[in-house]
Amino acid sequence: MVKQKLMIPGPVSLTPEVLQEMARPLIGHRTPDFEEILIKCWDNMKEIMRTKNDIILITGSGTAGMDAAIASTIEEGDECVCIMGGKFGERMADIVRSYGGIPREVKVDWGKGVDPDDVERVVEESDAKAITLTHNETSTGVIHDAKAIGEIAQKHGLLFIMDGITSVGGDLVEVDRWGVDICIVGSQKCLAAPPGLAMLSVSEDAWGVISNNNTRNFYLNLASYKKSLKKNTTPFTPSVSLVYGLSKALDAVLKEGMENRIQRHRTLAKATREAVKAMNLELFADEKVASNTVTSIRIPEKLTDEDVRGRMKREFGILLAGGQAQVKGKIFRIGHMGNVDYLDLLTVLSALEIVLKKSGHGLVLGEGVSAAQEIISNEIG
Ligand SMILES: Cc1ncc(COP(=O)(O)O)c(C=O)c1O
Repeated sequence: MVKQKLMIPGPVSLTPEVLQEMARPLIGHRTPDFEEILIKCWDNMKEIMRTKNDIILITGSGTAGMDAAIASTIEEGDECVCIMGGKFGERMADIVRSYGGIPREVKVDWGKGVDPDDVERVVEESDAKAITLTHNETSTGVIHDAKAIGEIAQKHGLLFIMDGITSVGGDLVEVDRWGVDICIVGSQKCLAAPPGLAMLSVSEDAWGVISNNNTRNFYLNLASYKKSLKKNTTPFTPSVSLVYGLSKALDAVLKEGMENRIQRHRTLAKATREAVKAMNLELFADEKVASNTVTSIRIPEKLTDEDVRGRMKREFGILLAGGQAQVKGKIFRIGHMGNVDYLDLLTVLSALEIVLKKSGHGLVLGEGVSAAQEIISNEIG
């Protein structure tokens, strides 16, 4: 019997407490009891994201949050500077295009961090209303310098729309200090909540733009959510069970404490990087900008995706993520976000060594695990 172990960048494994919470009997979504849960979720999200801005909760995946942000701010003919460099950066540009907006693309090589000078140049060459950034580009395993992009947005008076879907709750996100006007979060990633909810922080400047926007989306029009916010509710029926789960998951995030949580993710990432290098594997992302929540690794030339991920799943029940689009079959990714702990990681790395060896990759069993152990042992008391 092989037990399933999720080591992908979302959805992540949930604790029994979160799972049990979702089995609670439903209550009406327009009742004081549900209001209380919603307000608590909003307050907790503000703490996690370091913001005083409003929090909007949408029943839908992270992409619904991205869609809501763009639909509510970008109109036909509006220019928007879109930072590319991966599948999710490209998705944001696609959404801009789908509402008749004109993406002014900042090209970034996959696996590299964005150069703020390139952003500044494109901003100066265009007549943009907003800048979009995927803070943690999950498809390449890169974390971009959001603070630098926030400064550019502020200097030029542009809205800063940031996809924080795989950074919020796992890495440092300072919405107010960085001047992020809209920050989008997905429930099933670093927060270790069930999939199906998106949350957005929305600044006063963003509300100003939204209130004047000719929004061509009904369900995802943030102006409707703003109206409901005053009554501590949502405009449409939210998934009550998912909100139960989210509420429990956020309690756990704050119980651990954001500083501890960020440090745990950093240690997991460093241990993963050192381990894979000791296994004679090559990291895909530039290490200077490597993500703390997902690590991307090149598949050795003589091996296939099936030799690595297929075998990991078959032999050990460990689910790793593959490469997407132009890096499909060329890289694999280890998600170490949410509730992943040191023991989970050591187990996965140990299994990876066996799988690589069986597939004919040259390594000495134990050297990768040992490198990870060194990093982890420096961290614990
Ligand atoms: C950075 C990033 N943005 C957006 C998305 C899309 O989120 P969802 O699949 O929840 O719609 C993902 C999903 O992996 C992501 O990693």
